[in-house]
Amino acid sequence: MSLFGLGEQFNTLQDLYVHLLKDLYSAEHQLTKALPKMAEASKSPDLRLAFETHLRETENQIVRLETIADKLGTSLSGYTCNGMKGIISEGSGWIGEDATDAVKDAGLIMEAQHAEHYEMAGYGSARTYAELLGHTDAVSLLQQSLDEEIAADSKLNTLASRINVAAQTQPLKV
Ligand SMILES: [Fe+2]
Ligand SMILES: [Fe+2]
Repeated sequence: MSLFGLGEQFNTLQDLYVHLLKDLYSAEHQLTKALPKMAEASKSPDLRLAFETHLRETENQIVRLETIADKLGTSLSGYTCNGMKGIISEGSGWIGEDATDAVKDAGLIMEAQHAEHYEMAGYGSARTYAELLGHTDAVSLLQQSLDEEIAADSKLNTLASRINVAAQTQPLKV
């Protein structure tokens, strides 16, 4: 059984690079469906806005990946990222749990940061592969998306610094 269950042949770093782009493309598409649900489940207006803002960034990130794929003359569709599927499955489960407002939001932040760190790992590797392969335009696009993921994670850290404390001390208020 091959690693990704696709029977793909990986002979070069470029093959691995294209596979990683497919993984990210699937992950981003899955997030465009999950982020509105995370926003809707948020009790804090600030957290809801952060998810809505990141949804728009995510849509841009999909366009960047399509731009990279067009230049490579390849398609990124048809692959399912199981890593993000699992993270989103856990996040969906959390949305359905019975929790006080601040604890609910603290959990949403925790679940969302799992997704952000997964994306940061993917974009970091993809950016590095693009550098080695001499794909200068792709390096710039992937770095932009990586910077957005880092900023989104940092924003969640800022929100968590308030919401986690509320979850500990004032479970009914955010
Ligand atoms: Fe993303
Ligand atoms: Fe993200």
